[in-house]
Amino acid sequence: MRRIPEETIDRIRNQTDIVDIIGHYVQLKKQGRNYIGLCPFHGEKTPSFSVSPEKQIFHCFGCGKGGNVFSFLMEHDHLTFTEAVHKVAELSHLDVELPQLASDDSAAVPKETSETHKMIEMHQLAAKLYHYLLLETEEGLEALNYLKERGMSEELIQTFQIGFAPNHHATITSFFEKRDLDLHLAVAAGLLSERDNGDIVDRFRNRIMFPITDDRGQLVGFSGRLYNQEEGPKYLNSPETPIFNKRKLLYHFSEGRQSIRKYEEVLLLEGFMDVISVSEAGLLNGIASMGTSLTEEHIGLIKRVANRAVICYDGDSAGIEAAFKAGSLLAQAKIEIYVLSLPSGKDPDEYIRTYGADKFQTFYTHERQTWTAFKLYYLSRKRNMANDTERLAYIDEALFEIGKIDQAVERELYLKQLSDEFDITIPTLKEQLQRAVQELSRQKSRVTESHDFSNMLPPPDESFDDFQTMPKEKGRREAHFVAEQHLMKAMIENQDAFSQIHQLLESSRFYNDDFQALYTHLIAYYLDGNEASASRFMDYLTDMRLKNVVSSLEMIESPEEQTMEAYSDYILSMKKYRLEIKIKQKEQEVHEKMRLQDHEGAIKASTEVILLRKSLANKDYDFADDETF
Ligand code: GTP
Ligand code: MN
Repeated sequence: MRRIPEETIDRIRNQTDIVDIIGHYVQLKKQGRNYIGLCPFHGEKTPSFSVSPEKQIFHCFGCGKGGNVFSFLMEHDHLTFTEAVHKVAELSHLDVELPQLASDDSAAVPKETSETHKMIEMHQLAAKLYHYLLLETEEGLEALNYLKERGMSEELIQTFQIGFAPNHHATITSFFEKRDLDLHLAVAAGLLSERDNGDIVDRFRNRIMFPITDDRGQLVGFSGRLYNQEEGPKYLNSPETPIFNKRKLLYHFSEGRQSIRKYEEVLLLEGFMDVISVSEAGLLNGIASMGTSLTEEHIGLIKRVANRAVICYDGDSAGIEAAFKAGSLLAQAKIEIYVLSLPSGKDPDEYIRTYGADKFQTFYTHERQTWTAFKLYYLSRKRNMANDTERLAYIDEALFEIGKIDQAVERELYLKQLSDEFDITIPTLKEQLQRAVQELSRQKSRVTESHDFSNMLPPPDESFDDFQTMPKEKGRREAHFVAEQHLMKAMIENQDAFSQIHQLLESSRFYNDDFQALYTHLIAYYLDGNEASASRFMDYLTDMRLKNVVSSLEMIESPEEQTMEAYSDYILSMKKYRLEIKIKQKEQEVHEKMRLQDHEGAIKASTEVILLRKSLANKDYDFADDETF
């Protein structure tokens, strides 16, 4: 497909009013220079979504999302960039000539490296072929019958683009060969395999094929399921490739997003078959990892869209263990958790097939356990309650968990349960609970003490939260952050400012990683001959997160003074901060060396602290600049 020429995109961007386009989707009210409304990307009751007609961008102070008119449609309607450009042209009734949109043009996001772009296209082609082979051919019949016997409707097979890889070595291989596609690239994409003798063959054979998309909805891999008695692993996934990374993949995340936002919760399942099943039961917010346990990356994705997770894993011991593990991680990330405990031996898919979709719906809505209730159940399973010692140990553990609850009413509820279960009076339990709470607070204070030093260092990931909470907590922002913010903003809005600041910065880096990344992109952006425009710059960025950072910057007030002197001051404040951090790190090193009785090392580090402090006193902030942070 032909790319849309840059000039055409510019024309559409310039002749469109973002307020008008977003107004199609969100009720906007004028407030000052901006328009505000309820954010369509996360559930909220008071508006924190703003649109700036001046800057032609939007930003939500609640969820941190932001962008221009194209990114709005991409996110809202799950469109590719090209599709979004078409839609904007259509909605603003612009008479521009655009290259025809291929019906399956879901990979036309610009700035994708051409290799990954091709890999995704290859997956799309393969998915189409597999899907066709399942539905329309004789050899797909057995697989199709298997799916139907599992109760899968044709509609579901369509929605999830399920397919079939026949029992041949060269279904995809010869299909690609005929189209002159690069077979080695298809090997790197995990669609084909290369044998020791150099022959290239299909990776997936005789399996039911489930296409897998990444968090942007791009087709990046497959999982193939055995359907007859053949030997081998039940599921075969794509290998790790530049586009398929299981640590970051959650099945149905992109497709489920809208519903997740609407219900403000994800339904976390163990298998992707379960995701398909619950979707038939009307629950579109189901997601599953690709057979791996939950990673930090997964949790990061979940946190982007919801603060609540309902875990529904298999009802067997392994499932309960896995649910406990996943729940503990989610709890650490401050996600509210509920658990659906299925009867033993059933997964959600089997449950729905046995008891029906309605029953599962009711179960989901009305029978979810709180995280505490699940933990108590989990702990009790590990104990033999017929044994006194075990029983007492359980009560102790249970009280310890109950002690963590903040709400008095909720605490009381669990105490009552324990009291009934073990026939112990509530006052006695309360007495013991008191001790558990004391123990907890002792533990907590130990934790804070040992982190005393690190408290002085910046939080590990200050950037994202900063942007979300910026307007509310502006007063509290540290000088260095404000300095970096203003520099960044000035450079985005004004090319002269960019040149001046670029010169003043020399080799200094931004402390905030997002700003440093933006700075690097901005250099390339101006080098490419683009003019200053936040909205245009956003199209230049492919990383959603960075777009959000730009929109948040654009929504803050510019400082009055925008002179060389002001910029120099900001840069000094940045450098000063780096030096202060450096000193703190060195001081910590001194402590550490002393603890290890490495006196020589401690003296060396102390000397450095003295020198650094001297530079700080002399305002010689460049001292720390040759070090990498
Ligand atoms: P069905 O048996 O088709 O109902 O699938 P299921 O969803 O019940 O699968 P199961 O509970 O056995 O496994 C849950 C998830 O673990 C699956 O969705 C896969 O992602 C993964 N998994 C299971 N078996 C295999 C396997 O043999 N190989 C790999 N790579 N992953 C597997
Ligand atoms: Mn199953």
